[in-house]
Amino acid sequence: MDKTTLNAICPYFTMFPLEVPYRQLQKAVPNTWVLDPFCGRGTTNYAARLLGLPSVGIDSSPIATAIAEGKLAKTNPNAVYKVCEEILRSNKNITWPEGDFWSICFHEETFKNLLKIRESLLKDCKTPERKALRALMLGILHGPKNKGLPSYLSNQMPRTYAAKPDYAVKFWTQRNLYPDYVDVLELVSRKARHFFTEQPPAVDYHMICGDSRELDFSYFGVKFSKVVTSPPYYGMRTYVPDQWLRFWFIGGPSSVTYNHPSQMTHSSPSMFSSQLAGIWRNISKACESDAKMVVRFGGIHDRKANPKEIMVNSFREADCGLRVNTIRSAGLASEGKRQAEQFQRPLRKPIEEFDFYVSFRRK
Ligand SMILES: C[S@@+](CC[C@H](N)C(=O)[O-])C[C@H]1O[C@@H](n2cnc3c(N)ncnc32)[C@H](O)[C@@H]1O
Repeated sequence: MDKTTLNAICPYFTMFPLEVPYRQLQKAVPNTWVLDPFCGRGTTNYAARLLGLPSVGIDSSPIATAIAEGKLAKTNPNAVYKVCEEILRSNKNITWPEGDFWSICFHEETFKNLLKIRESLLKDCKTPERKALRALMLGILHGPKNKGLPSYLSNQMPRTYAAKPDYAVKFWTQRNLYPDYVDVLELVSRKARHFFTEQPPAVDYHMICGDSRELDFSYFGVKFSKVVTSPPYYGMRTYVPDQWLRFWFIGGPSSVTYNHPSQMTHSSPSMFSSQLAGIWRNISKACESDAKMVVRFGGIHDRKANPKEIMVNSFREADCGLRVNTIRSAGLASEGKRQAEQFQRPLRKPIEEFDFYVSFRRK
């Protein structure tokens, strides 16, 4: 356990390793403001925190920002445990979602406590310990069953994404897989000690759930010197549907929803470049004149589009003095592969990712 442990509180699709933003920010002078306009689970913001730098994170998925906020909250294991214990002690009426999925996904007693916590956090999630508890709960909500002490609340599931309800029910019933009773408070207590014992000092931050295409980045009243980010890979539209169970926990519907208009549109590579161009242009207005940006970007299997072309076109179209200094291969993306194996999704060939090193030169 060290100060980087908290970064892994909850998995996320296409997250990049902590070393990626950490390396880019390592030499930044104190008080440098860092920006990630597609922050996902806040890896860039957490790297900034480790280095004592203030940061802004934006993501249009509320799941992403809920995880990221939990990693920036200054709290301690005891405070997280206490707020959970208080919630579970309360004698509230809870509303149970209906359908086979819910009765096979969680043991009844475990589910009752899970619902209590969900409803309480939906009413109030303002304090650091509540934000921390929310991120922790998102991390333990679903995952594989293990032999010793349980790590997750659900029946057998991947931890990176949630299986769709009908598929999951079929999978469990065909294999006679039933949910075990999990003592929620014990698991929260154990995980809170694991994740929140060693924390980096608190830093200033803004974490916004919003659409970066529509944001005025000057709103924060700071000038950014470092932008480290990874937009959705072209064709990757499933951030919210694949995380539907976590979405439900933070207030989404109890079924899978596919229409999320605040996510980037993937109708053609040129349209995708144009959306990115608009974001880069707006960011450049809120940047120092010598600001630097690193963008990690790749492709996905079922779209025949050239990620390098999409990205370079977006810089050109932004027409705001961006200069691409280097493009480096970041190797093959294999995250998610092991997860997929557990739930028997067909495996696919890993894809290549690139890092684009860019300077802002204000016109
Ligand atoms: C590749 S992931 C970022 C992962 C992040 N680097 C991490 O380590 O967790 C891309 C993110 O872009 C977000 N996104 C998609 N469209 C967006 C938009 N219009 N505005 C802001 N975020 C958006 C997705 O929700 C997703 O979290």
